[in-house]
Amino acid sequence: MNPSPGDLFKKARAIYSQDAIAQHLGKDIRTVRRWEKGEVLIPTMSAAALTELLHGYRAGPAVHASPAGFTFVDLFAGIGGTRLGFEAAGGRCVFTSEWNKYACQTYRANHVDSHEIAGDITSIDAAAIPDHDVLVAGFPCQPFSLAGVSKKNSLGRAHGFDDPTQGTLFFDIKRILDVKRPRAFLLENVKNLRSHDSGKTFEVIMQTLRRDLGYRVPGPRVIDAAAFVPQHRERIFIAGFREDCGFDWEAVALPPRQHWPSLASILHSTGETAESPYTEVRRHQTHVSEKYTLSDHLWNYLQSYAEKHRALGHGFGCSVFAPSQIARTLSARYHKDGSEILIGQRGRNPRRLTPRECARLMGFPNGFRIPVSDTQAYKQFGNSVVVPVIKAIASVMAARLRGQPVEPACSGPQLRLLESASTPAGE
Ligand SMILES: C[S@@+](CC[C@H](N)C(=O)[O-])C[C@H]1O[C@@H](n2cnc3c(N)ncnc32)[C@H](O)[C@@H]1O
Repeated sequence: MNPSPGDLFKKARAIYSQDAIAQHLGKDIRTVRRWEKGEVLIPTMSAAALTELLHGYRAGPAVHASPAGFTFVDLFAGIGGTRLGFEAAGGRCVFTSEWNKYACQTYRANHVDSHEIAGDITSIDAAAIPDHDVLVAGFPCQPFSLAGVSKKNSLGRAHGFDDPTQGTLFFDIKRILDVKRPRAFLLENVKNLRSHDSGKTFEVIMQTLRRDLGYRVPGPRVIDAAAFVPQHRERIFIAGFREDCGFDWEAVALPPRQHWPSLASILHSTGETAESPYTEVRRHQTHVSEKYTLSDHLWNYLQSYAEKHRALGHGFGCSVFAPSQIARTLSARYHKDGSEILIGQRGRNPRRLTPRECARLMGFPNGFRIPVSDTQAYKQFGNSVVVPVIKAIASVMAARLRGQPVEPACSGPQLRLLESASTPAGE
């Protein structure tokens, strides 16, 4: 017997938000809410679309890993952007840690695993993590309180408490590296990690990796993702190796300036649906939904707020872009008002990017599923990594781990690896 539309709806709701279901079925969100409350019966004709939605989910991700050449663990995994880059380089993910339930929802909708997602990394015993070749982590950065450590030392606290990384999430990376000793790691963070807490945080991290753990860690690199996607997004990368395998940041290939894409490459084009959470692009909708255009109230407010700050001599992040330009950094707060990246529209108020456009702005493939509300989707993409940047780094790391030589990708002005560790942080 075929499942009823009600049963299909319940199954879909276990995976997708009301908003995502409404968009996939071409229904108003209020209708879906009424279905959920049982106020209205779900029409039989919706069963096919619900089955399609569920089938797409079960069929696995639109993005498939290449045959595994090495294994890796995905820590602070978010929605798995880093994972996509390492899979493209031949990696197989054997362990995931992420504690945000909405990020896990998107992660599960896009990555098929034999392992469950482990939650809070601070409560995971390192010995319980499977052996792996590479550890990847885009960890939140907190200051290391050196004063607090000295106080603990003066109180004669037991050995272990004198670890300056104790109480930070970097400490959890350290204890896993210490127990599992993977062949390599890649850590990702915001560019100003180097200047955080007057440079002390960065110094402790590098000393811990090099001196305490004995990894070979070349000077970190800041890479601007604008080489791959139409967004300036500078992030710092720290790669480390258990043994010297000749890794060199110069070998990481970044497209030359004349090939950097503009926003036109990620904006919806006519004939393409704006918000489909589902894999394939649906062609019946011709424009971006009205809901992404700023209301007069919000647009007036943003302009007067920007004016006030300009008069006081401060910058305020309200920027309207044309399709020929490169956007500023997408942040996790984009859901609030979208002010940092607005798209100009002739004769109308500007609009925000849709979640699908944000996915593209971060270099996620069009097949990447967005099963959550717009608010959660904006937060997730704003927190994520630019996939092609990770792919470029991962392919060089993987080649080095396989013992293959990598020729320097490009040289001179083509190389957009910005600063080395010795460059003072001037953000
Ligand atoms: C900067 S984001 C990393 C995003 C990821 N690189 C991606 O591609 O989407 C940091 C992530 O760490 C997660 N996180 C923070 N503290 C955590 C903890 N104690 N255990 C597990 N995950 C944690 C957050 O929920 C967030 O998704």
